[in-house]
Amino acid sequence: MAQFNRGTQAVIKTGHIDHNLKQFRALHPGKIIAVVKADAYGHGLAFVVPYLSDCDAFAVATIDEALELRAINQNHRIILLEGVFNATELDAAVANQFDVVVHQPFQLELLQQNNHQQAIDVWAKFDTGMNRLGFQPGLAEEVLSHLRSINVVKNIRVMTHFASSDDKTSPQTQHQLAMNHWAKSLGYEYSFSNTGGVLNGLSEPDEWARVGIGLYGISPLLDDTVQTFNLKPVMQLYANIIAIKNVAKGESIGYGATYVAESNMRIGIVGIGYADGYPWTERASHVMIGDKKAAIVGRVSMDMLAIDLTGMEDMGVGQTVELWGENWPIEQVAAEMGLIPYTLSCGITKRVKFDVYQ
Ligand SMILES: Cc1ncc(COP(=O)(O)O)c(C=O)c1O
Repeated sequence: MAQFNRGTQAVIKTGHIDHNLKQFRALHPGKIIAVVKADAYGHGLAFVVPYLSDCDAFAVATIDEALELRAINQNHRIILLEGVFNATELDAAVANQFDVVVHQPFQLELLQQNNHQQAIDVWAKFDTGMNRLGFQPGLAEEVLSHLRSINVVKNIRVMTHFASSDDKTSPQTQHQLAMNHWAKSLGYEYSFSNTGGVLNGLSEPDEWARVGIGLYGISPLLDDTVQTFNLKPVMQLYANIIAIKNVAKGESIGYGATYVAESNMRIGIVGIGYADGYPWTERASHVMIGDKKAAIVGRVSMDMLAIDLTGMEDMGVGQTVELWGENWPIEQVAAEMGLIPYTLSCGITKRVKFDVYQ
């Protein structure tokens, strides 16, 4: 009698994290900020951070993420990429020596009103074309001189962000590169590039590069895989086949009866669904069983999905399948689904068991 478990697990290879950081060190001579927001892009903050001890700083999005990180790591610089939103958050930032990004006038006012004895480092963010966060470049002198006059502000640095670092020749990227040269001329240390910027050779050698997705062994570039840069995927996602079905020609499979069998089929039901972080999408992907591909048929449901095992008679219940990982790159899974790999790794939910090893 077969006995197994649902087997829905993310295997995290910690050795690949410091390997990837070393690859970025070889590509980028300047400082490296490891971006570990969103629970280290779904990889588990506490698992990942010890293997990034060689980075120069960490960056997160929220004050809660920063506090969680400070509890794990007392020594590194931690940068709040959206800055603080109120006096309580600023108090916490000062008490924990977080760097804050400043991108809106209300954040200048918050810093101005603050009467702490200790000072913190500040990153003045300028919007060079992303149209998300940042002051307009025309306000640079005003913003920087205001910051220089505030007691709680220790060192000032400058930050910009590429909108399309995966597309180095686009007119927008070319414009943003020119604006980065303008930002350099302001005379402060600066941070311009994300993973795509570094991999595409857009980064300045002496900048503080903000590297996220690449540290997890995932390529954000459309044409270049991680092998091009000798990066290794950190997460592999697995689940087990929990049921086998024979479906006759003309019958449908799954919710909405969107998939109709064109011939008799052998179907495997896999114990992973969108509540685990494997999304429902219009365009279905594949899974891998060893080196064999099996197509996902019908809609992904909350806890399960169905795969086509026709002609694979040796595959039965308890068989482990790979949703993404070394045999089946997450970038390609995302492309098949019409998604980006960021949404896949960040979407892993707490129902998935983490198996962490070197
Ligand atoms: C402001 C900022 N910098 C850097 C990054 C890291 O980007 P990537 O994961 O593409 O390296 C992000 C990620 O979303 C970001 O929002």
